[in-house]
Amino acid sequence: MTHTYLTGDRPTGKLHLGHYVGSLKNRLSIQELPNTEQFIMIADQQALTDNANNPKKIQDNLKEVLLDYLAVGINPEQSTIFIQSKIPQLSELMMYYLNLVTVSRLHRNPTVKTEMKEKNFETSLPAGFLTYPVSQAADITAFKATHVPVGGDQLPMLEQTKEIVRSFNRIYHTDTLVEPEIILPKKNHERLKGLDGLGKMSKSLNNGIYLSDDEGVIKQKIMGMYTDPHHIHVNDPGQIKGNMVFEYLDVFGTDHEKINQLKEQYQQGGLGDVKLKLYLNDILQDTLRPIRERRAELENQEDYLLTILKKGSLKAEAQAAITLDEVKKAMGINYY
Ligand code: TRP
Repeated sequence: MTHTYLTGDRPTGKLHLGHYVGSLKNRLSIQELPNTEQFIMIADQQALTDNANNPKKIQDNLKEVLLDYLAVGINPEQSTIFIQSKIPQLSELMMYYLNLVTVSRLHRNPTVKTEMKEKNFETSLPAGFLTYPVSQAADITAFKATHVPVGGDQLPMLEQTKEIVRSFNRIYHTDTLVEPEIILPKKNHERLKGLDGLGKMSKSLNNGIYLSDDEGVIKQKIMGMYTDPHHIHVNDPGQIKGNMVFEYLDVFGTDHEKINQLKEQYQQGGLGDVKLKLYLNDILQDTLRPIRERRAELENQEDYLLTILKKGSLKAEAQAAITLDEVKKAMGINYY
């Protein structure tokens, strides 16, 4: 294997269209690449760093996230899906890396800073939360990931990982750890906006369409999407920019000629929001129907789902164990 890809998701909720365009579709292409191994981690320990008093949420969503992966076509024969907490070597690696990072450096991590504000952690910061970037460095280096595809908000995590890799290799005179290459999403696939157009699609903003949403819910959400607030009558000229229906058509539509015609007509006036939304509805229903159906088929196959997690986690653990041995050897703490 020449390339190793690693990605991860916190199991704090079901996955939505933003995950689909920003990350899941990309993983589908990665699993087809020759000489490439793909690890997909369900980051339950990282999810606990800000949900310590609600482990039930993590437990429940672990299954939902797995179902979402499988429903979109992630193939456990081609990609290794595993659970973070099932790989104890990750915690052990973190223990050594923690000594290579200063507390002030962690406080300067922009993502940690933003999330601390969002979660009101400024006065009661869990140490596990402050140090989760180090845990993430353990995730990445344990598998000697050469490529880590992430959203822009994860850049500071990857920077911190690279620093840890460089410090480790320098201090212990080794080349054991691999500095990963960061893969950012392609231009218009970056951060699908939410239905309200206010920010990116996210669970906390409650502005998403989920892969598991049923037909009626999808339609209802589309009918409520943000368009152009000044486009009141059908004949009023309308705005394309900032109009979520057109944003989504650009991402999910395939008939670009028709979409261009609709844009022209909308700008001139004479195309109503309802008609436009019904067109988007057709497209998204076609996208999501097979995913939802596959999800429903798998939902009650508990044994099959468990087998995937067990097999994947065993494979991941074997890999992490090799790296941990090398790490301890490099540090000279492989006593016997
Ligand atoms: N921090 C990532 C997120 O919130 C999840 C994650 C954990 C991750 N470990 C990782 C992503 C390792 C990439 C590599 O989405």
